[in-house]
Amino acid sequence: MADAPLRSYDPDRMHGGLDGEVERLEVQTRLAWSQEARILAGLGLPAAERLLDIGSGSGAHLERLAEAAPDAVVVGVEPDERLRALAAERVPRAALIGGSAEALPLPDAGVDFVVSHYVFQHVADPERAAQEALRVLRPGGTLAATEVDGELWGIVQPRFAEAQAAHEQAWLAQRRRGGDRTIGRRLWRIFAAAGFTDLSLQLFAYHSDELGLDAFAPLLDPANLLPLVESGVVAMIDYARAVYSYERFRADPAAFVLLAGLVVSGRAPGSQG
Ligand SMILES: C[S@@+](CC[C@H](N)C(=O)[O-])C[C@H]1O[C@@H](n2cnc3c(N)ncnc32)[C@H](O)[C@@H]1O
Repeated sequence: MADAPLRSYDPDRMHGGLDGEVERLEVQTRLAWSQEARILAGLGLPAAERLLDIGSGSGAHLERLAEAAPDAVVVGVEPDERLRALAAERVPRAALIGGSAEALPLPDAGVDFVVSHYVFQHVADPERAAQEALRVLRPGGTLAATEVDGELWGIVQPRFAEAQAAHEQAWLAQRRRGGDRTIGRRLWRIFAAAGFTDLSLQLFAYHSDELGLDAFAPLLDPANLLPLVESGVVAMIDYARAVYSYERFRADPAAFVLLAGLVVSGRAPGSQG
């Protein structure tokens, strides 16, 4: 098979391929949803009339968004055809369309709430994506982006010190493919430069004392790095060290994990008329 063009997000190149990635997306949303729902409610999601989810993936997050905004017309934009089909099946109420964050296939000022959930880190031109979100928002509308930052990802006890090298290689590879694993710290100024007002940055965290250690396995298992080992991005020795430290972590009766995310939001200037 010919090599596909390098993209920051490619479900086929994830551990377990498309099915494994769909499962990982489901777990990622399920574990943090109660925290994220609280933040999104504070930003006005339940009263949304026209909701846009950029980068809907398989619809794991979109499904919760649609439930949280029961009266909204729901639209999702997703470039990957297979993920888009899964999202459409999962959220029949939503209209799923192809397209990218940098060139949204939507008219000006047509929606009042825009969400993107772990998407900006994969977008090659996040400045352009923020401008596009502003363009499609009505005056007074809200953009809320959930993201990570590679240096604020969380706590594991005992520490995964041996896994650090493998993760750094993975982040570098994501950057070479046009993504940015440290997008979290940049979003506020990107949104401000695009013209958003009333900016906010809110942290959320979810942890194993509440949710159980097993629930985190699909997110933490170093097997997630295997495709990167196969393609030579992560060195075998660093992968082996990551496996060793993960096994030590799992066997420790005091094991604990806390993962953190952030929601950066802004409002389109003007008031809803
Ligand atoms: C980590 S997944 C998150 C999916 C979904 N938001 C969720 O949380 O379940 C990233 C998603 O962003 C999409 N994506 C990547 N680059 C994009 C772009 N330039 N514009 C819009 N979506 C993009 C991918 O196809 C993928 O569905």
